[in-house]
Amino acid sequence: AQNAKESLYIVSQFASAFFVKQLWETDEGRGIGLSYFKERGFREDILKKFEVGYSPDVWEALTSSATNAGHKLEFLEQTGLSIKNDKGKIYDRFRGRVMFPIHNFTGRVIGFGGRTLKTDKNVPKYVNSPESDIYHKSNVLYGLFHAKKAIRDLDNCYLAEGYADVLSVHQAGVENVVASSGTSLTTEQIKLIGRFTQNVTILFDGDAAGIKASLRGLDMILEEGLNVKIVSFPDGHDPDSYMHHVGAGAFKIYIENNRKDFILYKANVLLKEAGNDPIKRAGIIRDIVESIAKIPDPIKASVFIRECSSLLEIEERILMTELNKMRSAKS
Ligand code: UTP
Ligand code: MN
Ligand code: MN
Ligand code: MN
Ligand code: MN
Repeated sequence: AQNAKESLYIVSQFASAFFVKQLWETDEGRGIGLSYFKERGFREDILKKFEVGYSPDVWEALTSSATNAGHKLEFLEQTGLSIKNDKGKIYDRFRGRVMFPIHNFTGRVIGFGGRTLKTDKNVPKYVNSPESDIYHKSNVLYGLFHAKKAIRDLDNCYLAEGYADVLSVHQAGVENVVASSGTSLTTEQIKLIGRFTQNVTILFDGDAAGIKASLRGLDMILEEGLNVKIVSFPDGHDPDSYMHHVGAGAFKIYIENNRKDFILYKANVLLKEAGNDPIKRAGIIRDIVESIAKIPDPIKASVFIRECSSLLEIEERILMTELNKMRSAKS
């Protein structure tokens, strides 16, 4: 089994090198893929660092190149790089897309995300590698290999949604960033961050989906006993679009100066929704206490109860009663 896994790593590395070569050394790759990245404002050093690539827009480019080089079809299929249709015909999963290789935290390629260059709404924006013996999505954080040293040194991990976000945050000179990419945030991913730092700062998209995901994410992070802060982005921006909008220097300052703790963040988001309706406002208080109830450490929890009390002008004693009720309901 060890050998079979090794073959999957090897064919994935072959594919990664193939896509890189296509991007930089072919007319199609340069004309379509590289100019796409350039138009989005990515610097060459960042593209090289993350080893992004391009998959040619034909049915079998990688499949034939890999089999010609002696790689077995079996392994190309097991990684999902090649697909066999009903009639037994083999074709490339990734065609005409810019490619983001996904590395495990030791730096080996285990899968890919491929972004379409079309604006057609019927084409999926990203196609991702399927699960395989070497790629278990729920255990992987995109960018961790390139971020782990900075995460340790800075004792904080920025958590974004997407591939492009990770590249752009790096481009702004901030290297302690990863993304959940291709799946919604999992407990395993949070535990993985917890091996490097206890502090997470969420940088999710400033659209409705991103805000919803950040509320879910912060509860999950608290539940794992990690500390969480949130930076929100204006006008539906995501970290990538905002970095290119304001520039690298301003972006770095923005994310450093706009970290909110989860209580303030949640209060802001929920109060905006509730307006002046007193019943809805009471619901918000409960909702915030529910997040506090997820914190395993009771001393930490009591500190947040105090903050919540002064922010929302509710007696600490009442919040404590509420917290204890939720705690005993849980156990
Ligand atoms: P987004 O829709 O926010 O895309 O999805 P994005 O990262 O901002 O992409 P760009 O900037 O338009 O290139 C966030 C992440 O969710 C996953 C990808 O990992 C993406 O980066 N996703 C999104 C998919 O896996 N499939 C999709 O069709 C869309
Ligand atoms: Mn590599
Ligand atoms: Mn989004
Ligand atoms: Mn986005
Ligand atoms: Mn984006």
